[in-house]
Amino acid sequence: MPDIAYEQARHGSSIGQPLTRRDGFLKVTGGATFAADNRPEGMLHAVIAVSRIARGRVAHLDVAAAKAHPGVVDVMVPGNAPKLAADPDAKNDPFTFRLDLLQNDKVRYAHQPIAVVIAETLEAATEGAELLAPRYETESPRIGLDTAEAHKPPAVGAGDKTAATKGDVEAGLKSAEHRIEAVYETPAQYHNAMEPHSIVAQWDGDKLTVDTPSQGMAMATMRLAGLFGIDPKNILLRSPFLGGGFGSKGFLSGPQVLGVMAAKHAGRPVKLVLRREQMFGPVGHRAETRQTLRLGTDGSGALTALDHHTLTATSSFDDFYEPASALSRYLYKAPALATTHSGVRVDTGTPLFMRAPGEASGSAALEAAIDEMAETCGIDPLVFRQMNYAEAEPISERPFSSKALRECYEQGAARFGWERRSAAPRSMRDEAGRLVGWGVGTALFPALMMQAEARAEIRADGTGTVAIGAHDMGQGAWTALAQIAADGLGIDLDQLDFKSGSSDLPNGGIAGGSAHTATAGAAIHSASAAVLALLSEMATTDERSPLFGAGNAGVYAAGGRLIRRDDESRSESFSDILSRAGKDSVSASGKGAPDPASRESYAMHAHGAVFAEVTVDPDLGQIRVTRLVGAFAAGRIVNPRLVTSQYYGGMIWGVSFALHENAVVDPRSGRVMNPNLGEYHVPVNADVPSIEAILVEEHDPHVNPLGIKGVGEIGITGTAGAIANAVYHATGVRVRKMPITLDKLLG
Ligand code: MOS
Repeated sequence: MPDIAYEQARHGSSIGQPLTRRDGFLKVTGGATFAADNRPEGMLHAVIAVSRIARGRVAHLDVAAAKAHPGVVDVMVPGNAPKLAADPDAKNDPFTFRLDLLQNDKVRYAHQPIAVVIAETLEAATEGAELLAPRYETESPRIGLDTAEAHKPPAVGAGDKTAATKGDVEAGLKSAEHRIEAVYETPAQYHNAMEPHSIVAQWDGDKLTVDTPSQGMAMATMRLAGLFGIDPKNILLRSPFLGGGFGSKGFLSGPQVLGVMAAKHAGRPVKLVLRREQMFGPVGHRAETRQTLRLGTDGSGALTALDHHTLTATSSFDDFYEPASALSRYLYKAPALATTHSGVRVDTGTPLFMRAPGEASGSAALEAAIDEMAETCGIDPLVFRQMNYAEAEPISERPFSSKALRECYEQGAARFGWERRSAAPRSMRDEAGRLVGWGVGTALFPALMMQAEARAEIRADGTGTVAIGAHDMGQGAWTALAQIAADGLGIDLDQLDFKSGSSDLPNGGIAGGSAHTATAGAAIHSASAAVLALLSEMATTDERSPLFGAGNAGVYAAGGRLIRRDDESRSESFSDILSRAGKDSVSASGKGAPDPASRESYAMHAHGAVFAEVTVDPDLGQIRVTRLVGAFAAGRIVNPRLVTSQYYGGMIWGVSFALHENAVVDPRSGRVMNPNLGEYHVPVNADVPSIEAILVEEHDPHVNPLGIKGVGEIGITGTAGAIANAVYHATGVRVRKMPITLDKLLG
């Protein structure tokens, strides 16, 4: 078969174009059907009742009162809930997280579902749920990082090592000329995607159709198949649009499964949508951390040792540990390095993946510590980073697959005007007399690859189809992946039918770990290449084709034609090739996956540098972020408009992390006391400053065939630290407990 694998240099007209979202028009006109917009014939509404206690058991529910309420059809409780084929507490693998599915009356966290009321209307179901008037046997909740002895987690994050060390940190600290030790705290944060978890479920015998937002349809389908004991082929999961995911829709949550159970229980289609406050419990969150950093440098300011320890919380009944120390394994080249984690079990829902899990909290602490270290050495914080960043992974010593971080520092600093910064804290003011501070943070996120499959087809009319069960949670996957598909097939985008967002398509993997474009893109690339190889075979072996005899690596595809490399005047359209062969179409499948050999040889990350300006009212302590400049290098940029938008989003998460988000838990009840968007603060437009993102050019030949790295999460890293450092520079006050609020400046 002729080899027509692409070089990265040869790409069609779609990749690299700043196209607007292909689904944008549907979204802004209300034409996009989100899960909860579905209303199958005969649909009922389900509302969950959640626990007000964090630990104990439900002693009584007034089911009779709820059932007697007009419009209520039934109440699903542990006694009558459908039997499941698998124990939802069974831990088959580290990524099967335990779910609360009304299998018993135990309460393990506040806002745990304890009943589901099913009714003809949403109002009736809501009112019915209020009539349940639960009584509890309450045990005192274990809340906060000091509630119990810490233990060593079996693993952190997505199966990372709990500890990784190199050299003798104590000796490195002892021999250091300058030293700092500081403890940083980050609070629990909750997801709050604009679209809460929602599901419309309908059964037809043992066939199940669900409309629900998902970042991992194939995994969700397998989970449902296991819980209900049905063939995954009998499940159709549709997830064409998500109103944000941020990690919370990576795994099917308990309430989504309860919607499926309610439909089974009622024998009718059911819709279940979480209320905002119900998201503060059963759908994952980012756990609080307390991070201890100890750093030392020699007289020149070169790091001699870096010790990063994270204490974090997990639930009483499952394991997920925020891997906050992990990024210290990659970023700065201390000859002695220790990165460790410990955990405490508390009575909350299980924390899970959320917006750069680990890197976000870890970077917030590490970048603040680096700033403190630079100040102790009397070195400009940018210069200190430029002296100390690593060019090979400090622990494994694998070289980075590309070295663009220096460029990020330089381009970001130039754009921001960093050279005009005056070193001393409280030394800059704006015209209104407010204190001005400038800070910097390094951004870093691993360039992950997962597994995905795609199918591609070219038809005799010259049009093509690419099908992949990929996920667009707002990041623009439908657009970026279609650009890759059009170029992969060598056709114009308007000749492409791109099918996505449904579980009956080839497994598109997971939209997580900022790896979706790279992974699904690689699958699309390989499926398209396989189709073109078939077409090429048909043409180059046929005497009647102008491409006859072009031989190995002799043709490429563009504009719906195969073209001879050695003589571009000789080409043939896909239509002509297929018509002559008497075929309507030709199709093939392909896979995307990491290449183990290159992963062994290189450390792969996207890099960046974020510069922040804040103003602080000298009397009232009010903090505003006024300017953010981020320079990021993330390999091939598929769509600069969407990538810029991803960086903006990430940097706004950083603003949110530094100044806004804070789930306050009442230690007596174990409840989050601010489970609503009025009191759980996220930035609104007025909080979002001037933001610029610089797309630093980077060619990474090792990371995957298309040279694509993730851009979804890197923006939050670097940013929170840069803002904290800017607040210090403005005020001279180091706030080591996030979010940074005015009371902490005045205190
Ligand atoms: Mo993300 S937390 O990798 O969806």
